Amino acid sequence: MNITLKEGIDWVGYIDWTVRDFHGYKTESGSTYNSYLIRDEKNAVIDAVKAPYVHKLVEHIEALTPLESIDYVVCNHAEPDHSGGLPGLMKACPNATLVCNEKCKVALEKHYDTSAWKWQVVEDGDTLSLGKRTLQFINTPMVHWPESMFSYVPEEKLLFSMDAFGQHYASAFRFDDEEPLDVILHEAKAYYANIVMLYGRPISQTMERAAELEIEMIAPSHGVIWRSHLKEVFAAYQKYVVCKPRPKVIVLYASMWKATEKMAEAILEGAQECGVEAQFFNVDSTHATRIVTEVLDCAAIAIGSPTLNNSLMPAMAGVLCYMSGLRPTNKAGFAFGSYGWSKRGGAAAVEEAMKEMKIDILRESIRSQYVPTEEILEECREAGRMLGKYAEQFAKD
Ligand code: FEO
Repeated sequence: MNITLKEGIDWVGYIDWTVRDFHGYKTESGSTYNSYLIRDEKNAVIDAVKAPYVHKLVEHIEALTPLESIDYVVCNHAEPDHSGGLPGLMKACPNATLVCNEKCKVALEKHYDTSAWKWQVVEDGDTLSLGKRTLQFINTPMVHWPESMFSYVPEEKLLFSMDAFGQHYASAFRFDDEEPLDVILHEAKAYYANIVMLYGRPISQTMERAAELEIEMIAPSHGVIWRSHLKEVFAAYQKYVVCKPRPKVIVLYASMWKATEKMAEAILEGAQECGVEAQFFNVDSTHATRIVTEVLDCAAIAIGSPTLNNSLMPAMAGVLCYMSGLRPTNKAGFAFGSYGWSKRGGAAAVEEAMKEMKIDILRESIRSQYVPTEEILEECREAGRMLGKYAEQFAKD
């Protein structure tokens, strides 16, 4: 496995092949926790790994340099998937100083016993000379936590970008040109949608700052390192930060006795008549991770649930809760669903959730008492056609 980014700069992290849950994100492709070692007149480790794997990080460092030779450990982000290994790493490297910004120091002190650590607190724009190379620190608040920062090595045109541009993707390879581009871009999209979609504006501001830097390589804290396809991942992020719609309709539903499912199928039929891309998800069989990934770039969405106990089907409530936290933008649609003896909950609750998410409501919700009649199904088809026509306006690119 090639782990060398540049001469004297190596990957020393951990490949987590089997992780399948990352605070609710179903990580079907596993993940990596990327740490990097810079060997210069001063030696620096950039970020740690999850706590259980710190022994592998230490082993990887020790294979390249004695642990006593580590002068700095840089913490770009306090979330435990990167900081969890810091207590073990700081203990293993007796001469290391922990380098981070003030907010990160506060967060680390609230997570770990840091009483024995030496600190160097840096501010936005500060630099730290390692010898031939310099580390320049750039605060990137809310990408993905308030204390997050990038570390940039101008001499190498190398950006350590933390969570930004990352992917939950375990692989035997470390570089973007060693993997199929469509696969890693899809994983980058899933990562963006499920981890940082809520922070589109700060990410956009961060991208503007990154655009001022000369960058030949982006080394994120998850997934592959970008050295050949920077243009592609930057272009993808430009679309992600505004949830740029494509001509795509999603029909998302839960059902109890298949009445709402019949309505969903009719909406799908109508949308498909328009020739736009259409996707159909039952929340019982599709994880929220996949749904949110697809919602990121859809133009229109119909969401349906029957009434259950004056509320929603619990699986739909869960998906809507997850989705509303991530706040997709630039979407339009409507709600639908069946009911029995109470119109409370069901479509009404779905529509309320859609309004809270600031999804433009294109029409009143469609409801069916018990099993939908042919008249209601035709109304669903017509509403599907309307969604398809709405989605058509967004040019393919
Ligand atoms: Fe990979 Fe926000 O931690």
